Amino acid sequence: MLITIEKVLTPGQVNEARQKLASAEWVDGRVTAGYQAQEVKRNAQIPESSPAAKELGEMILAGLARSPRFMSAALPLRVFPPMFNSYAGGQTFGTHVDTAIRQLATTGQRIRTDLSATLFLTPPNEYDGGELIVEDSYGEKSVKLAAGDMVLYPATSLHRVEPVTRGNRVSSFFWIQSMIRQDAHRALLFELDASIQRLAGSDLAQSAPVKQSSVQLTGVYHNLLRQWAEM
Ligand code: NI
Repeated sequence: MLITIEKVLTPGQVNEARQKLASAEWVDGRVTAGYQAQEVKRNAQIPESSPAAKELGEMILAGLARSPRFMSAALPLRVFPPMFNSYAGGQTFGTHVDTAIRQLATTGQRIRTDLSATLFLTPPNEYDGGELIVEDSYGEKSVKLAAGDMVLYPATSLHRVEPVTRGNRVSSFFWIQSMIRQDAHRALLFELDASIQRLAGSDLAQSAPVKQSSVQLTGVYHNLLRQWAEM
């Protein structure tokens, strides 16, 4: 399941992030790449220990916590602190799969990367190329979003970033360990939750059959969550 989450950051927050990142220290993106990804990764990154990354990362996490769509789609257990990268002058990240297990530099805690996230910070009219291409069983999806919007996709997917041929594409990227390990299970729960919310918001919400169905479906949702959740 690949979904987008709009307006994780407000336009004001996007501007703040862009200003802080413009004056932050950038290093070669290969510092955090695994052996295979090093071969194909050509970009720049803010070091994980950078104060700007920490501050802006917390702003992003707060934005996600306010998003019912993110919570419903990701069912997050742990979120890796957001990192930041930039692509310019033809830079690209060739086809790869993200590392399965990430370790936090601060606490040593391990995070299984079930979901990958990219939050776009540069408006799409300011650069050419830079599409995130995600391969799944239905083919390739090309993603280029408004500044402040985020895409969430299974970390099991092969993906790449097309060369940026004009301008500078700055984004945040990070991973989520979900309470629900299987993408297919997560997708079912997301759909079920959406149906329950739709019933609750309908004109017929107070009618006896809809009320009864809502209670029953909510029970099914929680009982599936109970069966599948890992913590
Ligand atoms: Ni990747």
